[in-house]
Amino acid sequence: MRPSIPISVLVAIVQASPLQNSIKDDGQHPIKPSPPSSAPVSPIPSVGLGLWNSKPSDVPHAIASAFSSNYTHLDGAAAYNNEPSVGSALSDKHAPARHTYWLTSKLWNTMHKPVNVPKAFNKTLSDLNTTYLDLYLMHWPVAFLPDNPGRTIIDQDTSITDTWRAMETLASAYQASNGAYGAHYIGISNFSPRQIDEILKMCTICPYAHEFETHPYLQQQEFVNWHIEHDMKVIAYSPLANLNPTYKDVMPELPPILEDKFWVGAAQKKNVSVAQAVLGWNVQRGAIVIPKSVHAKRIEENLGALKVEFSEEELQDVQKEDKKIRFNNPSKDWGVELFEGLDGGSNRFVIEDEL
Ligand SMILES: NC(=O)c1ccc[n+]([C@@H]2O[C@H](COP(=O)([O-])OP(=O)(O)OC[C@H]3O[C@@H](n4cnc5c(N)ncnc54)[C@H](OP(=O)(O)O)[C@@H]3O)[C@@H](O)[C@H]2O)c1
Repeated sequence: MRPSIPISVLVAIVQASPLQNSIKDDGQHPIKPSPPSSAPVSPIPSVGLGLWNSKPSDVPHAIASAFSSNYTHLDGAAAYNNEPSVGSALSDKHAPARHTYWLTSKLWNTMHKPVNVPKAFNKTLSDLNTTYLDLYLMHWPVAFLPDNPGRTIIDQDTSITDTWRAMETLASAYQASNGAYGAHYIGISNFSPRQIDEILKMCTICPYAHEFETHPYLQQQEFVNWHIEHDMKVIAYSPLANLNPTYKDVMPELPPILEDKFWVGAAQKKNVSVAQAVLGWNVQRGAIVIPKSVHAKRIEENLGALKVEFSEEELQDVQKEDKKIRFNNPSKDWGVELFEGLDGGSNRFVIEDEL
């Protein structure tokens, strides 16, 4: 299938995009350019720093701490309203060269119309002060009408496949420019199996990764396995389950995972912290974890997930601890079905009154 944006338009986009060596007029340092022959980070590193809910004022020290602890992966999004701060941190004179870390961002729902996709992408590049992303994700399989501040109106005329085609042109641009501009990889986030199928049936450049909520309280083991068998990376968001304060009202009777007896016991047995045990379990089953913190000690601690190992028997015990609780589901607020057929998702074949 041909990209819907011709290459001549892409060239114009490249020309309009920020260049790595351009001096910004706000006194920032230009991002450290990569030597021409340098290869970008690949595959995606197993642990990254999440950036949702990180206040712009907290972002620079969180990113500096991540780099000094040897993180090579940052997970951001336009919707986190902190990309200019992330860009400043990446432009710091102590920040490593661009090709040495993996940078993910996401297309917000108001920018799904194909004509808006390159605009949103270029705005993110400009905010991040870079010329390429390692991964650009469709944040949700839901298009909103743009320009409706404070109101969510579903754009019924823009399908996920329309948006995917436009995203493919960003990946094509990366290839055509030899990595100078574009998205090295593209992917999806918060998709149901049916929505993944829709994309897989039409994609020319297919999703590299799927970012979705998964942790010990929402294990979705079969779904995770399906991705791994189909060579699609699983990026586990909210890997610390209910620690995100946004989730505090979803299932208040569940203990914060760091106080969960099972996990406290598992961590003690391994002589690691509870966060390391919880994250390490996800890494061991093949997922990439992106814990968010703005505290240097925790940021360093979370990378310690890489040293945790569970035996087969322990993995079976973890399986029994699945609560099948989804903390992040805006389905009702948006008036759309989400996570159809998955634990904690909508199921169109079940009438709730009959339950
Ligand atoms: N694609 C999507 O739709 C989507 C949705 C949700 C999240 N995400 C991504 O996934 C990332 C992570 O998910 P999340 O932010 O929801 O939740 P999370 O990383 O599971 O948990 C974050 C919370 O845990 C605390 N924390 C982190 N490490 C800790 C430690 N070692 N000990 C004690 N507390 C610790 C943090 O507090 P402090 O900051 O105060 O340390 C924060 O309150 C996000 O930041 C975002 O990048 C993507």
